[in-house]
Amino acid sequence: MVNVLVVGSGGREHALSWKLSQSSKVDTVFTAPGNGGTQNNVSINVDDLDGLADFAQKNNCFTVVGPEDPLAAGIVDKFNKLNLPIFGPSQKAAQLESSKIWAKNFMKRNEIPTARFEIFDDAQKAQEYVKSLDYNVVVKADGLAAGKGVIVCDSNDEALAAIQTILVKKTFGDAGNRIIIEERIDGVEASYIALSDGDVAIPMASSQDHKRIFDNDEGPNTGGMGAYSPTPIIDDDLAKIIQEQIIEKTILAMKNEGILFKGFLYAGIMIRDGKPYVLEYNVRMGDPECQPITMRMDFDLYDYFAASVDGRLSSLPPASWKSQFAVCVVLASKGYPESYSKNDEISGFDSIPKGSFVFHAGTKKSDGKIFSNGGRVLGVTALGDTLRSAIANAYSATQKITWSQKYYRRDIGKKGLSYL
Ligand code: AMP
Ligand code: GLY
Repeated sequence: MVNVLVVGSGGREHALSWKLSQSSKVDTVFTAPGNGGTQNNVSINVDDLDGLADFAQKNNCFTVVGPEDPLAAGIVDKFNKLNLPIFGPSQKAAQLESSKIWAKNFMKRNEIPTARFEIFDDAQKAQEYVKSLDYNVVVKADGLAAGKGVIVCDSNDEALAAIQTILVKKTFGDAGNRIIIEERIDGVEASYIALSDGDVAIPMASSQDHKRIFDNDEGPNTGGMGAYSPTPIIDDDLAKIIQEQIIEKTILAMKNEGILFKGFLYAGIMIRDGKPYVLEYNVRMGDPECQPITMRMDFDLYDYFAASVDGRLSSLPPASWKSQFAVCVVLASKGYPESYSKNDEISGFDSIPKGSFVFHAGTKKSDGKIFSNGGRVLGVTALGDTLRSAIANAYSATQKITWSQKYYRRDIGKKGLSYL
């Protein structure tokens, strides 16, 4: 039996802890720093790599990293040096997410389908370039900007303003020292996540996130307001194309460049005229995609994590999935993604029906009660035999949870229904 340390505090980490604790090979699952829903919380922050390593060593833990920041900071390299088992990509492999420019150049030299682009560090040159184009663009800060460094533009004027925001006003700090200006691809977006050991990549179930704060994809981008799995937007034929021409090609190209990619490889995909383009890579599970994907897993997640670390995924059977759909509705605090209140008491957890599960994100527990502690607070997740019934089950469970500042989108999963 092994202990597991899950690093992070979001809904994704609650889902990973929940699933890992069901493994017959796992003894105690610790979460650092965790939230109001996770068990065995350890108060070490995700940027305290020494503290995490120390805890893992003393408690004989296999470590699983949820968010991108510690991966980009080199947590896996550090643990490897100390001979501590850890699931996730090395710092070099994490560049696929931590430097958008590195990722775009990687895709270009390896002919992985992505939007055409140019890179700038000079605002004037960037502006001249935008003026010379006859299509709309997306302006992206190079570095990690908590999911906010991407500005999708509807006009030249918006693109010029975006260049000012990132390169001149430095709204995202040093993450915006360089920018990418790329073609805006108008299509349907979906998430495709695979688990790799550096050689092979096992597909996880397909999913679709809902990034904007308001219904019908209006308002500003958020971390994600809900997700469902599988998505009919990625049918078997398209899944095969994405698996072979994007995921496996990426893993092989990384290997050929001397970088073994171990961990979750997440391709944010835009589908235009039936063809997939990579909008971005993430080197971790998506949040909230992780919640519905985890609920559908019919396998021992720890086995796959351990095999990824040891480079023996090819000896495992393909991951098996519940045939049901899963839908996760994120409950946020009113005002998110801008300012919102915290410390509001939340109730109704005892009334959640069987087949549904409430994953915690921005919550904390005090005296046995649950209080809001962040923008995205809970992910109410439910299974159903059809997408329609999974949506109905998730919204029905959503009604049981009450607090004064509760806000959620009413249309999670609706985009998928139109494809059935
Ligand atoms: P990212 O933070 O890179 O995931 O980008 C945030 C969002 O911006 C994506 O989920 C897309 O909705 C949008 N986006 C990024 N790149 C493009 C593109 N080339 N064309 C259209 N939309 C894009
Ligand atoms: N849900 C999008 C992400 O995790 O980046």
